[in-house]
Amino acid sequence: MSLLPPATVPAAAVPDLRTAEVPRLRTPTVVQGLAFHRDPYRFLLGATARHGDVVGVDLPVSGPAVVVAAPEDVERLTSVSASVARAGQGRRHVLGMVSPASVLGSDPPEHALLRGRVAPAFDPARVARLSEEVDRVVRQHLRAWPRDRPTRLVERCRVLADHVFALVMLGITDEVRGPALARAVRAMLATPGNPPLPPPSPDDGALGAVAQVLYDRRTAPVERLLLAEVAERRWGLHRAPTDASALLDGQDVISCVLDEGPQGDRALLDQLVPLVVAGQEPPAMGLTWVLDRLAREEGRAASLAGDDPGAREGRDRFVAEALRVRPPVHSLLRDLREPVEVSGTRLEAGTTVMLPMVLTHADPRTFTDPGTFRPERWGSLPEQPDGYRPFGAGAHRCIGEPLARLLLDRAVAAAAEEVRLVPLLPRTERMVVRATVTAPVHGAPVMVRARPGT
Ligand code: HEM
Repeated sequence: MSLLPPATVPAAAVPDLRTAEVPRLRTPTVVQGLAFHRDPYRFLLGATARHGDVVGVDLPVSGPAVVVAAPEDVERLTSVSASVARAGQGRRHVLGMVSPASVLGSDPPEHALLRGRVAPAFDPARVARLSEEVDRVVRQHLRAWPRDRPTRLVERCRVLADHVFALVMLGITDEVRGPALARAVRAMLATPGNPPLPPPSPDDGALGAVAQVLYDRRTAPVERLLLAEVAERRWGLHRAPTDASALLDGQDVISCVLDEGPQGDRALLDQLVPLVVAGQEPPAMGLTWVLDRLAREEGRAASLAGDDPGAREGRDRFVAEALRVRPPVHSLLRDLREPVEVSGTRLEAGTTVMLPMVLTHADPRTFTDPGTFRPERWGSLPEQPDGYRPFGAGAHRCIGEPLARLLLDRAVAAAAEEVRLVPLLPRTERMVVRATVTAPVHGAPVMVRARPGT
């Protein structure tokens, strides 16, 4: 018998939400959805100010959910067993197209098996070995960004993050296929509107069915490119380019999945495509927010350049604070399999819980003067104060964190050394929501200038 779950989870397997004791917003779903996508911070702040730390919302993407906003409750819910608070099922409410046979979409017991299979690719020691390669790619991009004319960080950072992901995580060194895959994934995830509409879910009724057909059509090029890479590996045609041989360590995600032995194309794609989705937008938005912040903190640039311990520590604090004020993933999602009590309220089995980092990262109960950008605060705070969860927590904590941190570190160092980023809008932009990530409403326009002396 297969250890993997069926390709789709029957709707009946997800129990109805019962939130009798939980106060709920009464506005229509579509109104809540618009308000949330336009300004998640304000929407959630308003909801919790009116109803308290535990409040029911009804959003078009996730359906009915209970927002749990007290920092100590976030701590409690992220330490509950992954079989009781199920992340895979929670995420599939929002990312309906993610297969339950993937790390992103699975739950215990399959999750441990699927995560273990690809873990060597994400191992911190492996990622550290590829540091020079990541640094090379980051600087190559930064040097090619247009000088002295407006450009949007969001677009530049997406291309950069995609490039690093294709090389380091997928081991795709083919200079045509790597960028082609990045473009195909971008087209697959592109959604209209500002704030953008969420990607489709097959559970969205007739509209969802149409959206699913469109999504399948968009996924096809991604799948074709991944299968072309797989075919080359299977036939031993994988070629080593001269300047990136460190990448060919046989530990990239595709190698890990293939090492499991013969599998059909569908089974391979069910594992690979969600990893590609997870590895695209969060790091791209993380990079955007961090570099936008650097642009606004030009006075700190000199102390963040270089590789002495002081600069490295300074970058760690800078990144920690940038991810605090603008968490790239807006919330953690969990589906409860058993009742759990939070802030004196009993949440029933079947409840979808939303732990909103956009709110908890700005909570004055944890952070003094939360609206101020102050990296120095990380000298006296624990690494993971209650409610601070940019990479999640527990068994489902972001597997890509070591790569994400390396990418952010190299980008801050390279930008502080080589360019001057001039923000074109006076204030840090409002976050809008797209699926599970936050994006700057105007895409973070900047002017890139050469740094004197470079
Ligand atoms: C700044 C960059 C990133 C941020 C802020 C971020 C954030 C997150 C968060 C909040 C979660 C949910 C954790 C939870 O539910 O407890 C997550 C899960 C995940 N992330 Fe990331 N991520 C980033 C980069 C990446 C990268 C580069 C990859 C590479 C593929 C990746 C792959 C994943 C996967 C596969 C999961 C699911 C893990 C599991 O359920 O076991 N992420 N990420």
